[in-house]
Amino acid sequence: MDEDSDPRREFNDTGSCYGRCRNDAARTNSLQGEGSGDGYKQTTRELYREAALTPDPGLCCTSTPVWRPPDLVVPERMLEMNYGCGTTVHPRDLVGQPTVLYVGVGGGMELLQFAYFSRKPGGVVGIDPVAEMREASRTNLAEAAARNPWLREEFVTLLDADAPDLSLADGSVDVAAQNCLFNIFEEDDLRQALAEVYRVLRPRGRCVCREP
Ligand SMILES: C[S@@+](CC[C@H](N)C(=O)[O-])C[C@H]1O[C@@H](n2cnc3c(N)ncnc32)[C@H](O)[C@@H]1O
Repeated sequence: MDEDSDPRREFNDTGSCYGRCRNDAARTNSLQGEGSGDGYKQTTRELYREAALTPDPGLCCTSTPVWRPPDLVVPERMLEMNYGCGTTVHPRDLVGQPTVLYVGVGGGMELLQFAYFSRKPGGVVGIDPVAEMREASRTNLAEAAARNPWLREEFVTLLDADAPDLSLADGSVDVAAQNCLFNIFEEDDLRQALAEVYRVLRPRGRCVCREP
C-alpha cells in the first residue's frame, strides 16, 4: 500500500511514523551538498529557522491525534508546529513532579504537556540552538498560559544549547526527552548527544526518544 494512502498514517496509536519525515530530506541534502562535518548541522538549523518563522504542519511526520488531558488547551499555532513523531509524554514517567529536559523544542507543545505534569518553577527545561524556534516556543507558551489557568511562566525555562553540549549539571534531571531530532545526527554527534543525556540524568532517570 502506498504510504500516503495508508489510513494508519493518520490514526496510529503506537505513534510510529508512516509518513516520510523531511528531516531525512534535510540530512540527505546537506550531506550531498556540503559533505560531512558541521555543514549538515547548519543546514538543519536553517530549516528550523524557517519552520519557526512560518509554521509548516507538513514538515515532519506527526501520525497520532494530539493527546489532550483534561484542562489542557493547546493553542492552534502549537498544533501547526507539531514537528515530532508520536509523543514522548507518558504520564507514568511523570509522577512526583519530575524535572524534565526536552531537547529540540519546536513550537513548544510537548514542553506544555510536560509542564502540565511537573507544575513547578524550572520543572521543564527546553534547549534549542535556533533562536527563532526558542522565540516561537516562548510566544506559543505565553498564549497557552493565557488559556490554561494552571500554567505559570516560570514552569518552563528555554535555553540556548546544542544537544551534544547540554550545559546542564550532572544528574540534574529526572526525565530527558527528544522527539524527531537525534535521527538527523551523524554518528559522532549522536554518541555525544546520548552521552550528554546520560550525564545529566539522575541515577534511574528516564530517557524518552521518538524517531521516524
Ligand atoms: C523536528 S523538530 C522537533 C521539534 C519538537 N521536538 C516536536 O516534537 O515538535 C527539531 C527541533 O530540534 C531543534 N534542533 C536542531 N538542531 C538542534 C541541536 N543541535 N540541538 C538541539 N536542538 C536542535 C530544531 O530547532 C527543532 O526545534
